Order: sequence, then C-alpha cells, then structure tokens
Amino acid sequence: MKTLFSGIQPSGIPTIGNYIGALKQFVDIQDAYDCYFCIVDQHAITVPQDRLKLRKQIRQLAAIYLATGLNPEKVTLFIQSEVPAHAQAGWMLTTISSIGELERMTQFKDKSQKQSEGIPAGLLTYPPLMAADIVLYNTDIVPVGDDQKQHIELTRNLVDRFNSRYNDVLTKPEIKMPEVGGRVMSLQDPTKKMSKSDDNPKNFISLLDEPKVAAKKIKSAVTDSDGIIKFDKENKPGITNLLTIYSSLTGESIASLEDRYANEGYGKFKGDLAEVVENFLTDFQEKFNSFYESDKLDTILDEGRDKAHRASFKTLKKMEKAMGLGRKR
Ligand code: TYM
Repeated sequence: MKTLFSGIQPSGIPTIGNYIGALKQFVDIQDAYDCYFCIVDQHAITVPQDRLKLRKQIRQLAAIYLATGLNPEKVTLFIQSEVPAHAQAGWMLTTISSIGELERMTQFKDKSQKQSEGIPAGLLTYPPLMAADIVLYNTDIVPVGDDQKQHIELTRNLVDRFNSRYNDVLTKPEIKMPEVGGRVMSLQDPTKKMSKSDDNPKNFISLLDEPKVAAKKIKSAVTDSDGIIKFDKENKPGITNLLTIYSSLTGESIASLEDRYANEGYGKFKGDLAEVVENFLTDFQEKFNSFYESDKLDTILDEGRDKAHRASFKTLKKMEKAMGLGRKR
C-alpha cells in the first residue's frame, strides 16, 4: 500500500477552506493509502502564539480531524512535537537548503511582512521542516490545497538533492490537489485566500462557528452587482467562490448549480447556500463534541504518536547514516 501524509497547523480553528481543500480529500481517500495525519504544532510556533490557546487548538484540531470521518482504526493521527524525528530531520534538511530558495517562498514573503518584532528565523526554515514531515514516512502522496504547491515542489527538490549528495534513501512525493476547491477565498475579499489566522472573522467560516452565525456570513458575502450565477474566477470571484463552496459541500457539480440557479437572484442562491452551510456545521459539530471531551481522543493520539515514532525513527536513522552523523563502530 502506498503512503499518504498531510498536516494542518493548529494556528487557529480550521475553516471551511481547510475542510474543502484538505480534510475532505483525506476522508475520501483514506481507504486507498497508509495514511499519516499530523497536527503540525512546531510549524505553528514559527509565528508567535498564545500558549493556552495553542494547546486548546491542538486538541480541537485532533477532534476536527476525527469529526470529518477519518477512521482512527486505519489512519495514524498524531502531534508533530510528540515525535522527535521531525525536528531532527528538519534540521538535517535545513542544512541542505539555501537561504535564496527559502526566501523565494511566497508564504515566507507574506508572513514575514506581517511580523512587527523582527522576522523569526523559523519562518524561513519552515519548508525544510515540512519536507522532513513528509519524507520521514516514505510518503508517496501529499493531499493539500493550492497554497502548498510551492512547498511540495521544494520538498521534491530537497529529496533530489539529498539523494544525489548522499545515498538514495528518500522517497520523492507527489502532490494531490482537489479538482474543485483547492483555493477557497475570503468571503469579504474574494481575491484573497480564506485563512484561519485572518484578523477579521467575517472573512472566513470556522468549522466551529455557531451555525447561524456562519449562515449570516454567507448571506453577507461580497459578490458583484450583475446578478448572474456563473463560474468566472476573473470577473466574478465572489460568486465563483460561493459556487465552489456549494459544490464541494453538496457534491452537486458547478455546471448543474449554474443551471439550477440560471433564473434566480443572488438572494435565493445565498439563502440556499447559507442553509447548506448551517446544516453541514450542525452535523459536523455534533461529531466534534463527542470526540473533543472523550478519553478516546487521547488513546488515539497516544497510539498515533507511537506508530509515527516507530516509522519515522527508521527513516531518521537512514538519513543520519547517509549524512555521516553519529559514531563509527
Ligand atoms: P495550513 O494549516 O495552512 O492548511 C491546512 C490545509 O488546508 C489547505 N488550505 C486551503 N485549501 C483551500 N482553500 C483555502 N483557503 C485553504 N487554506 C488552507 C492547505 O493547502 C493545507 O492543505 N504548511 C502546511 C502544513 C504542513 C503540511 C506538512 C502539509 C506542515 N507540514 C506536510 C502537508 C504535508 C500549512 O500551513 O497548512
């Protein structure tokens, strides 16, 4: 069986963008791969975090992964900081990364601009840590949203570099993006990505938003004024974004939605989508609550940690040997 790895930062509560771009894909393909899903808390601290909030968000994210429908009997769910090989392999891959290529990452450019108290070095070295996450499990495929493309491309380059400099020990991963919804946009500014760490809560729908509040956010989402429900990223980013969300949550194709709403106004369309989102969240949060408080969640995370540790340790040792670390016997 091939191996799949993906991660989400507990740097906020996941949005429906994270759900559509990533989580939903995970559930759909969990049976076809040996799956590792990680709560990447070491990535989250590359920008300042409130420690109490972070801890809470880590547990919330664990329950969110499970509430989407991942089967804990099959997949390995774990917290990055509980598996030491990530930081160790991350360091090794940092040593073969160049400052120039790391500075070219758009996520680095975006996030470093927002830092008022100096740019944390970890923001720059974030991608080799992400590469480590992936290679430690001999990952074949990485399902992610559109915004992670550049990081996966860099991971592939680091794998080639490591394999050609040392020994052929690392597996080169492929990226997998969803056909619809690889980049869900902000509700108030549909030219900008929806993000869980956005300061304005009207821009995103969190998976733990009060369902009625989320419905309101959909109804007040920014659209245009020509009244035509049509998928057109360039000229109609607002409606296009809502069509994407609608299609992803219901499984109805964009073409069919365009057809069905051909003679309707934005009010009816938004009202219907608001109801879809409200029902989706109500259902989702019921499952979330049953995991969040349960001891079962801890058992799942303990088992995930142990399994991830065993698997990653093997690759770590191979990497160390290939690079000449440790002692000669
Ligand atoms: P993160 O936490 O920002 O996002 C988690 C996943 O959600 C996707 N995503 C989106 N998809 C569609 N529309 C959006 N608006 C949207 N926003 C986010 C992301 O593409 C991602 O798949 N660097 C990663 C975390 C990470 C990782 C990894 C991922 C660390 N190590 C190894 C894969 C493999 C990140 O910041 O994701």
